[in-house]
Amino acid sequence: MARRKIIAGNWKMNMTPTQAVELVNTLKPLVVTDEADVVFCVPAIDIIPVAEAVKGSNIEVGAENMYFEESGAYTGEISPAMLVDAGVKYVVLGHSERREYFAETNETVNKKMLKAFEHGITPIMCCGETLEQREQGVTMDFIRQQVKVGFLGVTADQAKTAVIAYEPIWAIGTGKTATTEQAEEVCAGIRQCIKEIYDEATAEAIRIQYGGSVNAGNAAELFAQPDIDGGLVGGASLKPDFGKIVNYK
Ligand code: PGA
Repeated sequence: MARRKIIAGNWKMNMTPTQAVELVNTLKPLVVTDEADVVFCVPAIDIIPVAEAVKGSNIEVGAENMYFEESGAYTGEISPAMLVDAGVKYVVLGHSERREYFAETNETVNKKMLKAFEHGITPIMCCGETLEQREQGVTMDFIRQQVKVGFLGVTADQAKTAVIAYEPIWAIGTGKTATTEQAEEVCAGIRQCIKEIYDEATAEAIRIQYGGSVNAGNAAELFAQPDIDGGLVGGASLKPDFGKIVNYK
């Protein structure tokens, strides 16, 4: 069975609650499609107004992070139950910006993965190499470690529903997209890694996105690759262009 595409916007630290509702209202008619899942991953403070604004549309709401404890003395953190109650269906975990600036590790990502599944939230787990790692020829070794540790203790049935976003760090926000061949090669390698951890059926079911300077001009070619099941889109998800990316065909 063909995998359904999933195209997610990652708003990062952009949009006040007021601006968020305006953006949703602008994008709502542009992202209508029957052919892909459409997700807006938004800052925590925007989740409630965005969840309200997307009602009746095909847009699902995602968070950009989540903590791995249920509740308690973790000042400033947001729990899985809070996200679920607010209408969140997806959560971005282990984005390279969180790994770089907020001490996220493969181990904390793994804890968050397990918690997300426990609460019925679909994780979009990010992985990706630095330019240095690519030049050293260790891209796939590095990504396999991120995936293997990230999925520790995750069952095959859970993994089948997960999303992995392959985002080469050198391509994020730089306007420098990976070539279609580079993106497909790593996404296929990730699928192979999932097959080794689980089995063929899990590898066939899991959805793998490409992210890093996806735009209206390169989406169609990237998303046509056999192992690329959509995209995680930063900058271009804040513009009407996101409608073109969703309707890339
Ligand atoms: P970009 O960001 O599309 O602006 O490169 C992608 C991401 O970080 O998810």
